[in-house]
Amino acid sequence: MSDLYLNYKGTLFPNMSTSVEDLAFVENEFQVLDDDIFNVTYPKSGTTWMIDILSLILKNGDPTWNKTVPNWDRAPWVETLGFAQKLKLCKEHPRLFTSHLPRHIFMKTFEDSKAKESRGVVLYTRLSYTPEYTVIYTIRDPKDTAVSLYYFSKMSAFYKDMESIDDCLKDYLFGNIPYGSWFNHVKGWMKMMGKDNFMFHTYEDLQRDLRGSVIKICTFLGKELDDKEIDSVVGNVSFKNMKENNMSNFTLLPTGYMDHEKSPFMRKGIVGDWKNHFTVTQNEYFDKIYKAEMQDFSVKFPWDTSINQ
Ligand code: A3P
Repeated sequence: MSDLYLNYKGTLFPNMSTSVEDLAFVENEFQVLDDDIFNVTYPKSGTTWMIDILSLILKNGDPTWNKTVPNWDRAPWVETLGFAQKLKLCKEHPRLFTSHLPRHIFMKTFEDSKAKESRGVVLYTRLSYTPEYTVIYTIRDPKDTAVSLYYFSKMSAFYKDMESIDDCLKDYLFGNIPYGSWFNHVKGWMKMMGKDNFMFHTYEDLQRDLRGSVIKICTFLGKELDDKEIDSVVGNVSFKNMKENNMSNFTLLPTGYMDHEKSPFMRKGIVGDWKNHFTVTQNEYFDKIYKAEMQDFSVKFPWDTSINQ
């Protein structure tokens, strides 16, 4: 294991962005409120895109919040250093959070829990109550996610530099990277499918029909935005506008964390970039592992048709 990573319950995490204490806090002590909204993703699946969409929806399309407050303060990553302190500053409701945690590490405070009201704060103990907190889970074609991660590993100090796509796939396909395997992440979170408080979305859906996707998310959240407000959400989260927004593109971070000269965070923002990177052999190998991992999985994704049968 690289010195850059720590191992928490079998999953790797970047030492630079979290600690065992922070992870244990989230798993065991984080007091969830019924109206909390969680933006959950496997890394490089459209996390920051969804933060901007959700923060605009919560503000009825008014872009002021998105243009003045960095995304990590609008929707803090729950598994990052100092989250317990940051949480105390989250006064607005509903609270918006982001997470890359695999579901089994979320579990203690969530699904098997019972809510107890205490001056408006819902404390969870481990009984049999499903809280109303909301999860929006965004999934992206794992091949594009791998390519995006490959470039991210070069620009971000959180990850070990993946020297080649071969190098990347060797670790990616078997989960030897932060947040573990794409397959386990997706299969774990998708077990929530069918619950009223869970919605999943693909990055490809957002690309194909952004406006329709925004409307679906509004309906799910019970937010009624008029046409102009929806136009504002859609316009402000275009790739171009987010790339130019310092509150969304991570250029406010010191280069010691992310070096945009090596690769911009807002890199290409397209579907199918893996075709420009994978060799035929790499692609066939990927498909073989994908089919083995997903054979018993009933949900079909837009990219499944491109997997060699
Ligand atoms: P690429 O590296 O393929 O360009 P995450 O936020 O989960 O780390 O994901 C980052 C990926 O989402 C990057 O993909 C980034 O360019 C893409 N992305 C971010 N905002 C986007 C937007 N508004 N439209 C399309 N893609 C976006």
